[in-house]
Amino acid sequence: MSSRLLMTTLSLTLFVACEGEKQNDNKPPEPPKPEAVKPEAKKLDPWAVPPPPPTSVYSGPLFAMSHDYPKTPVAPPADPPWRKASGGGLITTANAAAYTQALKDYVAADMKVLLYDYPAWNAGTAGWYNAPWLTSVREPIHGTYVGSSFTKEYFPLSGLTADMTTHVLVYYDDVAAAVLQGIWGPTGMDPVPGIKAGLAQYPEGSIIVKPAFTTASAATWPVLDGAMTWPIYAVPDDGSSTEPVLQNVTFFQFDIIVKDSVASPTTQWVFTTLVYDKNAPGDNWDKMVPLGAMWGDDPSVVSPQGCDPIKGDCPALSETWINPVAPVYAKETLGWGGRLSGPNDGSVDINAAVIQADGSVKPYNGRYAMSSCMSCHQSAEYPLQTFLLPSPSVCGQGGQDSCTPTLVTCEGETCTPFTGTGNPLVAYYDSGSADYMQWFMNRPGTQAMSSTATAMDYGMNNAFKAIPGWVAATGGKPVGHAHKLSDYRGHPKHAAAGAAAQPKAPEQPKQ
Ligand code: HEC
Repeated sequence: MSSRLLMTTLSLTLFVACEGEKQNDNKPPEPPKPEAVKPEAKKLDPWAVPPPPPTSVYSGPLFAMSHDYPKTPVAPPADPPWRKASGGGLITTANAAAYTQALKDYVAADMKVLLYDYPAWNAGTAGWYNAPWLTSVREPIHGTYVGSSFTKEYFPLSGLTADMTTHVLVYYDDVAAAVLQGIWGPTGMDPVPGIKAGLAQYPEGSIIVKPAFTTASAATWPVLDGAMTWPIYAVPDDGSSTEPVLQNVTFFQFDIIVKDSVASPTTQWVFTTLVYDKNAPGDNWDKMVPLGAMWGDDPSVVSPQGCDPIKGDCPALSETWINPVAPVYAKETLGWGGRLSGPNDGSVDINAAVIQADGSVKPYNGRYAMSSCMSCHQSAEYPLQTFLLPSPSVCGQGGQDSCTPTLVTCEGETCTPFTGTGNPLVAYYDSGSADYMQWFMNRPGTQAMSSTATAMDYGMNNAFKAIPGWVAATGGKPVGHAHKLSDYRGHPKHAAAGAAAQPKAPEQPKQ
């Protein structure tokens, strides 16, 4: 299986590159005609909402962009409950459960309206905000867009029987919205001066949430039995149509991150996530149980690749806490050495190649864990100068603000650079090597991975979605297309509408 996933990734990259070139080729040598102005003006609306479904298909509430960002900074709560949970001191594996619960409780009232009482949801009134420039990828009912796709082989222990695509969306609280105001406000047009001025740095107490849904259902993944669903109007997962259809997606992961320099003085962030547990008591919100929390990447712990956090044979971590009673499906995709990562996050590759000490590349037989919430997020920078997973990358090709990892094809134990035929695998750095550890460094959010970029303070929604979306839409600096950004999360099957029609690479026997 899986070889075709990377093929799709690559095809998408080429597709987008061609699209960019075509635009340039089509550029009329003469000044644009007046009639070209109208569609262009529409395209340039940073806050546009996607066109609604026909009322014959759906007539309920629709997504509305919340972009009336606070003009002046909003102070976080003076004595926030999460700080009480960590006793006013450091977050530790001993208090992380209480800390995660405090964050969940803090956002509960608003999130219950968003999740379960959508007609009553008004994000702006509730003080939650969206980033601009995602219109081309959002669906119109809830404003979700494709996160990742996973084949069923990613979840061998929990009985996923069909490949799935995930759909996500992001809300910033009124404190975190200072970054949206700082880099986008009020025009939504040029984030670069704000970024350069340090305005992509989140204020203390910022909270950002990200609910994630999957096209899997209880029928294809029994762990989702009884879970809540949302209707979305999006291109179907099975490739049966390239047009959007009304479909239900299942709520299964909910991320909450907070900037807390007291609990987490090194990275200044705490990343937490909740997952659906059908066996937990209570209503749907109660059944969203903590999977865990992390506040650093444990740079000093060199976890053996292949250790199993479910069996519990990985070296102990002191900057990740995993809930011992979290459901197995959510633990089978934990990150490197059991560092926090959720079932929506793609920290494991089931068909990887690894760069050896002598520089040669060999296929890796097994599940290769190579990321974590904060490993991936610390790569947020502008312009992007590194891929978000630990692989040597080529960035800025074709003038795009994106990076491609190193791809190889392997015959037996020998891998050679991918030349366009065969099954490409990502060649990762060897876990624990100095190069690999660059992704597990505990950098402060002010320090970019690369010396030639400005750090985006762990903020991926802007670095990987909104900013490239802006450039793609304005054509000012052709830095890629928002459609392909989902490629960077796990291994997309057909993340964009255009990709559904991609020919599938032939199945290859496994090593
Ligand atoms: C392999 C990379 C990767 C991993 C692992 C990952 N994320 Fe993300 N995350 C992203 C990308 C890319 C985005 C932006 C996509 C979007 O707009 O939805 C994002 C967006 C987010 C956001 C919205 C705020 C922002 O950064 O702009 C939150 C919150 C978030 N992730 C939390 C988490 C948590 C919690 C985990 C671990 C449980 C996690 N992420 C793991 C790549 C990753």
